[in-house]
Amino acid sequence: MNKIKRTNQPSDLNTSSSFQLNLKNKKITVYHFNNLSSTMDLAKETAEKGCANLTVIVADRQTKGRGRLKRTWYSSEGGLYFTVILKPDIAPSLAYRFNFAASVSLNKILKKHYNISATLKWPNDILVNQKKICGMLSEMEGDSCKINYINIGIGINVNNNPTKLEPTAVSIKALIKKTVSRKKLLTLFLYEFEKTIENIDKNNPVLEWKKYNTTINKYVKIVTTKDVLTGKAVDVDETGTLILKGKDGSLKKVIYGDCFHHAN
Ligand code: BTN
Repeated sequence: MNKIKRTNQPSDLNTSSSFQLNLKNKKITVYHFNNLSSTMDLAKETAEKGCANLTVIVADRQTKGRGRLKRTWYSSEGGLYFTVILKPDIAPSLAYRFNFAASVSLNKILKKHYNISATLKWPNDILVNQKKICGMLSEMEGDSCKINYINIGIGINVNNNPTKLEPTAVSIKALIKKTVSRKKLLTLFLYEFEKTIENIDKNNPVLEWKKYNTTINKYVKIVTTKDVLTGKAVDVDETGTLILKGKDGSLKKVIYGDCFHHAN
């Protein structure tokens, strides 16, 4: 693991350091780095070596930031790039709930603290006027009986200017015309996220996610590692599975994939 220099709490994420946050139920540690290949890589290493539930790895820049389906996640300075390591004691069949909890929590924070009205695109993108403000990626390790860890990687366009390679992206700064403290945003998110997952076995965040979703009723193309599927997204069920209606009227269940919205 990279060396961590301890400092007092910085006002924003500007030096390599670690700091603790007192969430509602738990004190957690956030490890912050100027440069990493990907917060997902260090999170995996950290989770495998052993760390507490809700340990966070955050980086100012990533040289190999990755998105879903092996896409590159451009991670220029000013964005917020982090991975939350979860070690939940719940059935692996409920693991999908954490991704939805993360989208729902960030959506709430964007509205409450930055007055940004976003929508949620299946499975976990956050959009403003159909432009992407946040993407999420999760990696899980375990077996059918036990989750060893779930790492949720979150990239938020905060003060960065999305590059020409990301024409469909937008940042918080561009929307509200001011620079935002990434540390404050991260803290607000983690606090909200901890509350959302408090009783996640009983409270399914997919129901809240559906209220803000922009995918249901749209014609979509779903790209998976094996397939490209097209049709109308008619529902997302309580397990987060997308129900796709094909041209012939048949219904297909889609568990994962990248989703592109179409006009018709
Ligand atoms: C996607 O929309 O395809 C998912 C993007 C996920 C990006 C985040 S940034 C922090 C973490 N580290 C990575 O390399 N990827 C995730």
